Amino acid sequence: MQKIKTVLGTCAAMALTAGVAMAGPAEDKLILNEEIEMVTVTTAPDHMSDAMDTIYSGWHFRGVETRAMQSDDFDNPGMIAVEQAEDAWNTVDGSEGKSCASCHDGSDSMAGVKPVYPKWSEAAGEVRTLEHQINDCRENRMGAEKWKYTGGTMQGMVALIASVSRGMPVNVAIDGPAQSMWEQGKELYYTRTGQLELSCANCHEDNYGMMIRADHLSQGQINGFPVYRLKNTKLNSVHARFKGCVRDTRAETYKPGGQEFIALELYVTSRGNGLSVEGPSIRN
Ligand code: HEC
Ligand code: HEC
Repeated sequence: MQKIKTVLGTCAAMALTAGVAMAGPAEDKLILNEEIEMVTVTTAPDHMSDAMDTIYSGWHFRGVETRAMQSDDFDNPGMIAVEQAEDAWNTVDGSEGKSCASCHDGSDSMAGVKPVYPKWSEAAGEVRTLEHQINDCRENRMGAEKWKYTGGTMQGMVALIASVSRGMPVNVAIDGPAQSMWEQGKELYYTRTGQLELSCANCHEDNYGMMIRADHLSQGQINGFPVYRLKNTKLNSVHARFKGCVRDTRAETYKPGGQEFIALELYVTSRGNGLSVEGPSIRN
């Protein structure tokens, strides 16, 4: 009951603050390590032309200090997990006596991979997230145990693979064999769920820029994932974030790693086509 009240309070607050507490995205530029100019705002991809003209990274909706923290790897707590993942990359595990490096060389060989995931795998005949691809390598090529989908070890590895693509534009394919999955994701994005009957679009498309209490509502982009959240001081997966947002509408949520969230991830990623890969980014 308490939770319902809290969430309804949130929505009432949203209605009340409409037009009043509107605070647009911060005008700021993200330059990583005084070196890489990140694209954090750009023209919306064609498939969204009915919905909005401009897309913004969630970075624009965070406070001055949080934004600054992300501009320097020494200040970014998510980079500690990246360093640990670098060790895991080189560590032999499983029955085949191999590490990631045995087959892929250095982790920098993964540059260009994150921008195109989730991706159709021809061999598997399915759309795969990076997590699924990593576990496929662990299980079937290394003879090692799968990592927990939303767990710290997995998300550290996803962050490492993202980190070597920072500054590259997100560019997932939404046509060809991935199209039906993309359409399923789009459907989910616009479906109102839960007792509050809210869709992702109701918040992240119709109301971004508004304040929900102390929280500045973004477009819900995922170019920055995995995200180090100051709130729980760890890396958070895309699916864990989706789960939290679905729960906030008082709906039954889907399973991290499951088909619905893969479809939703493909669709939401495509809403950020053109923004720079930022992972690991920092958010509230
Ligand atoms: C025995 C060799 C082998 C090992 C060990 C291995 N992989 Fe792979 N990996 C492959 C092959 C081969 C492919 C391409 C497979 C395919 O397309 O289905 C691949 C593909 C990938 C991809 C997708 C790349 C792309 O361009 O889409 C990622 C990411 C990946 N591996 C990560 C890892 C990680 C992380 C580890 C260690 C935990 C690992 N791999 C261990 C052989 C290996
Ligand atoms: C009741 C409003 C509401 C609904 C509905 C909602 N969200 Fe959110 N979402 C938020 C708030 C508030 C935040 C935290 C502030 C922010 O980053 O926008 C957030 C954050 C996010 C983030 C993190 C963005 C970043 O840059 O780290 C993602 C991704 C996201 N939401 C996706 C979704 C998806 C997908 C759906 C539909 C399944 C959804 N949200 C539904 C309110 C909502």
